[in-house]
Amino acid sequence: MRVLVIGGGGREHALVWKIRQSPKVTDIYCAPGNAGTAEIATNVPIAADQIDQLLEFAEKNEIGLTVVGPEQPLVMGIVDRFQEKGLRVFGPTARAAELEGSKAFSKDIMKKYGLPTADYEIFTSHELAQRYFDKETGPIVVKASGLAAGKGVILCRNAEEGRSAVDTIMKDKSFGEAGDQVVIEEFLEGPEVSVLAFSDGNTVLLMDSAQDHKAALDGDQGPNTGGMGAYSPAPVFTDIMRQKVHDKMMLPLVRAMKSEGRPYVGILYAGLMLTKHGPKILEFNARFGDPETQPLLVRMASDIVPLFEACIDGTLNQCELQWKPESSVCVVMAAKGYPGPYEKGKEISGLKEAGALPDVAVFHAGTKEEGGKVFTSGGRVLGVTATGADTASAIKKAYEAVSKIQWDGIHYRKDIGHRVSN
Ligand code: AMP
Ligand code: GLY
Repeated sequence: MRVLVIGGGGREHALVWKIRQSPKVTDIYCAPGNAGTAEIATNVPIAADQIDQLLEFAEKNEIGLTVVGPEQPLVMGIVDRFQEKGLRVFGPTARAAELEGSKAFSKDIMKKYGLPTADYEIFTSHELAQRYFDKETGPIVVKASGLAAGKGVILCRNAEEGRSAVDTIMKDKSFGEAGDQVVIEEFLEGPEVSVLAFSDGNTVLLMDSAQDHKAALDGDQGPNTGGMGAYSPAPVFTDIMRQKVHDKMMLPLVRAMKSEGRPYVGILYAGLMLTKHGPKILEFNARFGDPETQPLLVRMASDIVPLFEACIDGTLNQCELQWKPESSVCVVMAAKGYPGPYEKGKEISGLKEAGALPDVAVFHAGTKEEGGKVFTSGGRVLGVTATGADTASAIKKAYEAVSKIQWDGIHYRKDIGHRVSN
């Protein structure tokens, strides 16, 4: 079977790497891909949101399965378009992906079906959102409702910061149209866990847990990013919690989406906060997490392709998902300036030396090959991922690989996995 993976980040390199191990697969294409996917698949120079061109490519090349990485094309309806043409595609339809595309929609679904989440209010008027802070003073979270590449969430210590966050989102339009609506919600505290699951619309199969490091700097300081590193499993997430999350969150959500006439097929990703009062849902994403996918897929023992197919065919209840007992850690190496404006075009050295180390996979994100050399071309450049008998040994191997890699202006956190190993 010929498989097309859509996207060009570390998540997609890890997906291509994993899909390639399936005996069911003969050829893999990645659109647009990066210098890493080019080594193990055929890159196709079509951007992830150019749906017409992707469709044409898939039809022409007899693609038997398309796997969509990023949220943007999902929210734009890529799955609906592929399905209309009778192509097999893994991911939620536009109406189902609204779970990620609109935080207001997602919160309303959670409230309607009694899923545990932070209390909230939704505003479409700047004035009313401002007035909210006449009565509320304490810490609060202000979120742009639409897609904002993981950056539309502002944590506010007091009413003054809350007002300024509302201005940033609704008046200055720092996240564009995503800020036409805001969600203002209760400030929760506790460790965060990412729980990803396969869903065929009726059955949900949870993956092992992972934890992401969102802040740019060591000690969880600095601005939030798309993710500076991740590890799996997350020991704070116990088996009891896992069962509870399946029974009280993921399954009820999938049933809710079905009864709303928006059956959910694809990866369902819940960002959870483990509060004193039990796990609460911060958000749902409609896709694999990045970087969580990198440490998860190096631990996944099962062939992933039959799982994608079972979701499409509605036969997930017949599937099992096996994991390797090892732990894994992914350290993201970023360009100078990220998550703000960042430098591009720096030559990367040491990739071969790092990749040759045992139990290490160097997943590319923002990289580009030119004349046999690899250059930086994005904010997050690499996800150096290692497995080990425990988290401490995975950390050691990952940082050993990181130490071999160089470019001008390199930035990475030195404390990925510290919550587990301390
Ligand atoms: P989200 O994109 O909604 O997951 O938010 C991004 C990050 O903001 C989360 O990973 C949390 O670290 C933080 N966050 C989101 N919602 C809340 C909340 N209600 N209370 C505290 N922190 C939050
Ligand atoms: N790592 C967070 C995300 O993929 O949304």
